[in-house]
Amino acid sequence: MSVGEPSVYLNGEFRPLHAAAVSPLDRGFLFGDGVYEVIPVYHGLPFRLGEHLQRLHDSLAAVRISDPHERDAWAGLVTEVIRRNGGGDLSLYLQVTRGTGPDRDHFFPKDTPPTVFLMASPLRPTAPEVLERGVAAVTRRDFRWGRCDVKAITLLPNVLLRQEAREAGCSEAILVRADGQVHEGAASNLFAVIRGALVTPPKDRFILPGITRDLVLELARGDGLAVAERPIDQAELAAASEIWITSSTRELLPVTRLDDHAVGDGRPGPLWHHVDGLIQDHKRRWLAGVGTTADEGRPA
Ligand code: PDD
Repeated sequence: MSVGEPSVYLNGEFRPLHAAAVSPLDRGFLFGDGVYEVIPVYHGLPFRLGEHLQRLHDSLAAVRISDPHERDAWAGLVTEVIRRNGGGDLSLYLQVTRGTGPDRDHFFPKDTPPTVFLMASPLRPTAPEVLERGVAAVTRRDFRWGRCDVKAITLLPNVLLRQEAREAGCSEAILVRADGQVHEGAASNLFAVIRGALVTPPKDRFILPGITRDLVLELARGDGLAVAERPIDQAELAAASEIWITSSTRELLPVTRLDDHAVGDGRPGPLWHHVDGLIQDHKRRWLAGVGTTADEGRPA
């Protein structure tokens, strides 16, 4: 194994990345037939592990892949991947596909074990100068499927939409359905401050139930802030005084330009500063072991 080469888990074995391979008949490769998770790891500890494993379980159930492991076995694998990759701050990727069938056939193969893959890569915090000025986003028509609540590996629309955002000099594409409602980003959930109130689209089949979204709701409400979970239309978003996107790898990012217009005064707003402070505080207390539970990610 070369210096610094990641150690990955594939179907029961740990290997250096270059030595891990799946069959071209794997249904993840042929059909995008699988689900995944991305779990942030801080100082060697997986954050909100219980929540991520529950969402994995829900995604597997939604696509009718039987969950290959109990919760404790998953937690053990996660802990071992972290250990073998040196701990620290990591982005842990976990994928389960319907496995490798005997040939290419849409129908589910019989008696085929799922393919299980875990890897870790460095988690790079957003640079302070990016947080200082915020990021730009574009709105794009949401042409994804009707089960965006499932964390499926079938990400072609997300890939195309995010690439379009990048080519427009932006960090994210915020997705609008035909009815004019905005739901989430191509790889993030969405919050907006509209007439002074914090709003986020509700959990339904058009958004991924984000773990970071839940964290923001929990911390904001715990701090006495009112948050409405309700549909947001594109015109409201365009007039919002603050827009944020959330994800496990990017935490809470302020969007300060939308479709080439400044959001609010063009700088991260006061509510973003406040809620980002709540998150950073929460992480510090969690790392220090204050008010945490094993379910929140601290390996037993
Ligand atoms: N994506 N919505 C979509 C479509 C996403 O892909 C993601 C995260 C989120 C945020 O969910 P969470 O807070 O649980 O990370 C919302 C991950 C990071 C990815 O695909 O890399």
